[in-house]
Amino acid sequence: MEKILNIITAKMQAAFEKAGYDPAFGRVTVSNRPDLCEYQCNGALAAAKQYKCAPIQIAQAVAKQLDAADFSMIDAVMPGFLNLKLSDDFLRRYLEQMRTAPNFGVEKSGQGKTIVIDYGGPNVAKPLHIGHLRSAIIGESLKRLYRFFGWNAIGDIHLGDWGLQMGLIIAELELRQPDLPYFDPNFEGEYPAEAPFTIQELEEIYPAASARKKEDAQFAEQAHTATYELQQGRRGYRAIWNHILRLSVADLKRNYQRLNVSFESWLGESDADPYIPAMVEDMKARGIAIPSEGAWVIPVAEEGDKKEIPPCILVKSDGSAIYATTDLATMVQRMQDFHPNKILYVTDQRQSLHFEQVFRAARKAGIIPESVELEHLGFGTMNGRDGKPFKTRDGGVMRLEQLINDMTDFVRAKVVENQIVEADQVEDTTAKIAIGALKYGDLSNQPSKDYIFDMDRFAAFEGNTGPYILYTIVRIKSILSKYGPWEQLPIQASANPAAKDLMLAITKFAPAMEGALKSSAPNLVCSYIYELAGCVNRFYHETRILTEEDEAKKAGYIALMGLAKGILETSIDLLAFSAPEKM
Ligand code: ARG
Repeated sequence: MEKILNIITAKMQAAFEKAGYDPAFGRVTVSNRPDLCEYQCNGALAAAKQYKCAPIQIAQAVAKQLDAADFSMIDAVMPGFLNLKLSDDFLRRYLEQMRTAPNFGVEKSGQGKTIVIDYGGPNVAKPLHIGHLRSAIIGESLKRLYRFFGWNAIGDIHLGDWGLQMGLIIAELELRQPDLPYFDPNFEGEYPAEAPFTIQELEEIYPAASARKKEDAQFAEQAHTATYELQQGRRGYRAIWNHILRLSVADLKRNYQRLNVSFESWLGESDADPYIPAMVEDMKARGIAIPSEGAWVIPVAEEGDKKEIPPCILVKSDGSAIYATTDLATMVQRMQDFHPNKILYVTDQRQSLHFEQVFRAARKAGIIPESVELEHLGFGTMNGRDGKPFKTRDGGVMRLEQLINDMTDFVRAKVVENQIVEADQVEDTTAKIAIGALKYGDLSNQPSKDYIFDMDRFAAFEGNTGPYILYTIVRIKSILSKYGPWEQLPIQASANPAAKDLMLAITKFAPAMEGALKSSAPNLVCSYIYELAGCVNRFYHETRILTEEDEAKKAGYIALMGLAKGILETSIDLLAFSAPEKM
């Protein structure tokens, strides 16, 4: 469906032409003076220079050529502005088209294109912490936005399953239970099917091992060796690794599910490993990688760099691969498996240099052709109210699960106190509000900005919050259900200024979503629905909806509410949360 601004612009251009001027001057914009008009065109000012006459003359001549059926106001004002208000009928027709069009009229411009979105990025065996929260929340929303525009979007979790943390756990386990068959190099039988630890024990083992590494150089050495041997394929270590992976993935899935986050691909760093040897050999052979102090590096500095971009290290001097190597090999694998048009990485912005280096190296080596877009979306830190990175009360790293639990408890208390729903609905309602509060609190900020996690503010039912948006949807649902079947009711002309504002806000859905996609900015979805919800609530307060006596008018109000609900629900689905039935 054509965007409303394009339709108005086309009408304006035709009017310029009919009045004898170049249609290119007929560009229309959303008004920056909503008190005066809804749309405006300043083209007469520019045209006046070319045609050497007073701008107001042009504006007046053009105004005469516009169709009065489309506009309720066409004002040519000094020095030569054209101020416009849309006619009720024009708006009605446009909204009626939106109501019945697939996707509310948003064009599926990404059809036939594939994007891999690398987000989540948890590290196996380490508990999910809130650093991973933002990646999951932002990445999931972007994935849904791309899908909304017709892209084939593949969410790839890119598990951190291959690093030193694995060696640390193996070494720690060997220290604690040396008699397990996994550590006997001569063992040739079947390893037990059950892991020698639970997920809870695993979560204790990793920090213990990590602390031991700092104090005990010999243990650190053993952990490094274990990592190396694991990567070389030592059988017993692989068996332990498989146990760790299985338990961790189950635990991760549970956590992500609570957040409404899911992944199409559960590959990890380990899956890129088989691609490394051939890739490295090729880069060495073609001189893409060069030797440097015993290591192999890819120089990636470019003329015009504002800051120094150090070479990308491909192979360390001890022969091992590093984070960058894995990311490059993963690109090889993704190109083979998915043939994407774009790869988008969602990580902490402190990894920007890493991705700059890796992207340049990938282009240089021809792993990623110019036709494939690479984007790194770096996000800021979630801080506590003291402005410092968010911590638990005792100063430890806050676990994601704990954070969700805290928010859930906080919201549950409100739900119970306000007697919002029947006892058997409390948990479901609470979960929906809590996740909405948490996600909206995050997503309403520009991704690159740090933000302050403030449970009171995020969970408030008023203000620019998730619960406020949910409350608005619930309010509409309640009106609609009192009315009865409404789905087939057509949109009618606006009856009052609040209705017109609501209608105008609805027409801005497509441009708002496009902006969000283009700038990788779910915050633009949030600001759009905050505005829309405001219009819904003003309309609700200023209009007698269910008590309206004129049945036809009432049906028009209901149809408008139904459309607003559809758009709000679609939008929160793009943010990956949903509304309860009651609130
Ligand atoms: N596991 C990494 C971390 O916790 C994030 C991975 C991000 N993705 C990537 N392709 N490097 O920091």
